[in-house]
Amino acid sequence: MLGKHEFLEKHGLLLTVGILVVVAIGGAVEIAPLFYLESTVEEVDGVRPYSPLELAGRNVYVREGCYVCHSQQIRPLRDEVERYGHYSLAAESMYDHPFQWGSKRTGPDLARVGGKYSDEWHRQHMVSPRSLVPESIMPPYAFLEKRELDYSQVEAWLKANRAVGVPYTDEMIENAALDLRTQVDPFSDNYDAFVARYPKAQIRNFDGNDRQITEMDALIAYMQMLGTLVDFDTYEAEENYR
Ligand code: HEC
Repeated sequence: MLGKHEFLEKHGLLLTVGILVVVAIGGAVEIAPLFYLESTVEEVDGVRPYSPLELAGRNVYVREGCYVCHSQQIRPLRDEVERYGHYSLAAESMYDHPFQWGSKRTGPDLARVGGKYSDEWHRQHMVSPRSLVPESIMPPYAFLEKRELDYSQVEAWLKANRAVGVPYTDEMIENAALDLRTQVDPFSDNYDAFVARYPKAQIRNFDGNDRQITEMDALIAYMQMLGTLVDFDTYEAEENYR
């Protein structure tokens, strides 16, 4: 047996062909099953496309480069799960384009930061991180609460996401601007229709200033939603994904 292998090793071209054959078998075994799966992402109850205001907040998050210091992916390791909560599911970032998993944690992971703090905590933390966490090295983003949110393109944002596979309906796109305003106005006539379109959406004034919709409103709405869509008291992975 070993003698025969020596013959292969002494003939470079033959060895190359042999390597290609072995690698091709390995590749086929890994790749072929994927053609028979409808989706590699498990469907999970509660996951929905982002509301227009959350999406606007996500745009601010990306624009400001928050992902440079923060990840949004809890790995299935004991120390992470004990610190941050249930490990992240693929489904939880299936509507993220581009995803915000990140590979750098100068600050903590934010995948489940929703509901951890009050809106006012977030507002003050953005304005002046060190007023709440004295040792923080996070830069301040005070201008966000002064800048009015420009959502003139909100329909286009939804359409762009639909083009890459997020299931926004025509109704969601038509009502995008109205839905965005509704999320900061608990007295809106559109309240019920909005919640029907975006279950579990949180509706309130997020930055404590009801005179205008600011970038701070959008960013806090996004933060408070992160990790709250799936109910982990009842969640159980499908058999194939365990
Ligand atoms: C230079 C790195 C850096 C950048 C950029 C940065 N952060 Fe942070 N962030 C940190 C650090 C460090 C902490 C931990 C100390 C603290 O709470 O301030 C933190 C904490 C946080 C927390 C509290 C998390 C928790 O679980 O306690 C939130 C929320 C947050 N950042 C949001 C943001 C957002 C939103 C942006 C973008 C607008 C951003 N950060 C940009 C470094 C950064």
